[in-house]
Amino acid sequence: MVQTKMSKFRTVRGMRDFLPKHAGKMRYVERVSRELALLYGYKEVITPVVESYKLLAAKSGEEIRQRMYAFKDLGGRKVALRPEFTASTARLVATRMKNEPKPMRLFCLGSLYRYDEPQYGRFREFWQANYELLGSEKPEADAEILILTNDLIERLGLRNYLFKIGHMGILRGILSQEGIVEESQNRIMQLLDKKQEEEALRVAKDRNVSERCIKTLKTVLETRGKEPSRVLRRVKEEVQEYEGAVAAVENLSDILELAKDSGVKFKMLIEAGFARGLEYYTGLIFEPYVPQLEIALSGGGRYDKLIELFGGEPTPAVGVAQGIDRLVLAMRKQRFSPRIRGEKRVVVIPINDELKAKAIELSLTLRKAKIPAEVEVMGRTVTRALEDADRKKATHTILVGPDELREDKVVLRDMKKREQKLVEIKNLCKEIM
Ligand code: HAM
Repeated sequence: MVQTKMSKFRTVRGMRDFLPKHAGKMRYVERVSRELALLYGYKEVITPVVESYKLLAAKSGEEIRQRMYAFKDLGGRKVALRPEFTASTARLVATRMKNEPKPMRLFCLGSLYRYDEPQYGRFREFWQANYELLGSEKPEADAEILILTNDLIERLGLRNYLFKIGHMGILRGILSQEGIVEESQNRIMQLLDKKQEEEALRVAKDRNVSERCIKTLKTVLETRGKEPSRVLRRVKEEVQEYEGAVAAVENLSDILELAKDSGVKFKMLIEAGFARGLEYYTGLIFEPYVPQLEIALSGGGRYDKLIELFGGEPTPAVGVAQGIDRLVLAMRKQRFSPRIRGEKRVVVIPINDELKAKAIELSLTLRKAKIPAEVEVMGRTVTRALEDADRKKATHTILVGPDELREDKVVLRDMKKREQKLVEIKNLCKEIM
């Protein structure tokens, strides 16, 4: 038999344990994300962590493709741990949910896996709250996804955030008209996503694009600004000879105008040459940032061809994945910690061994009234048990003693006020609430 000392076990590189405080923050962001899904009409679906490699690799982009936890299962199938939710949602819509009326609003929440180099804000296991709006090609669908993301960030109390916004149709419109095949376009987008602009332009040159194209690409890559209408007017002039790119600029204008006219305000940085690593995007793309973190909090955009690619009906779609880990990091950086007010925590302490069962019985009564209750299970003296209740920040303790019990009463101690009184058991819950 192999003898191992348990203390030698650590988490695998890139994997994390979440201790109660951190876990609580993650769950808080999840809870707010879930409430938001409900408020906007997104229905939750639960998809598997393990999917076919082919499905996940189809349009995820080179970067993610190379970082997938891919392996053969015992049946010899090539599978991978999901690096994102969009492929799984698209699979569902192309198959089992094919006949559902449109639009469909779907929500997923859970862990994802990417073999990234572990660093600040980049983990091998991380969590997303993912929202997909399927079936509409209209700008109001794109605007909804932007507005929903803004709503979440606001509800989490974050400040001074900014949305980086672009449109895949601008660059793709130029490159397509120049006869660049999709594969080369993807290569260029990957390089731009990694901020390797010179290299991206070199790939375009190698594909024999016109001088005019290189000139246009260079100016597009430099065009950015915080005032949408001004930036987009400039981009439109720059790309006027490329029909697809002009249509993209007009579409982005429509989306942002809708968001603005609906009264929603958020800071934006429009970048005409913005690209995201995932290959399925066809329209709007965006990422919100806070000044204290260099990495995006979330990422989203429009992908009109994916469901068709997976064998479904042509279904335009737009969505966003909110990075739960990074939202928690941003909250910590901005020192925002939600006050969960009015929460009671009660410790029930039997003052001798004969009263253990009664203490358990009382704790059950409290929990039935939705009051969180713990029972003293260490057999400690009342003084010690009270000290421990203080350490855990219990709001109340209940001392169960034989004399009081004879009159159907217990001692209820308010731990903050350091006051105690005799309370009839039938009034206990009312007294605590
Ligand atoms: P993504 O930009 O790859 O997009 O990821 C979205 C968010 O997930 C990121 O902004 C970040 O907060 C979080 N994230 C990604 N990788 C890591 C990591 N290694 N560690 C920590 N957090 C990470 C997508 O996943 C698309 N499926 C979004 C989408 C949905 N587009 C349309 N619908």
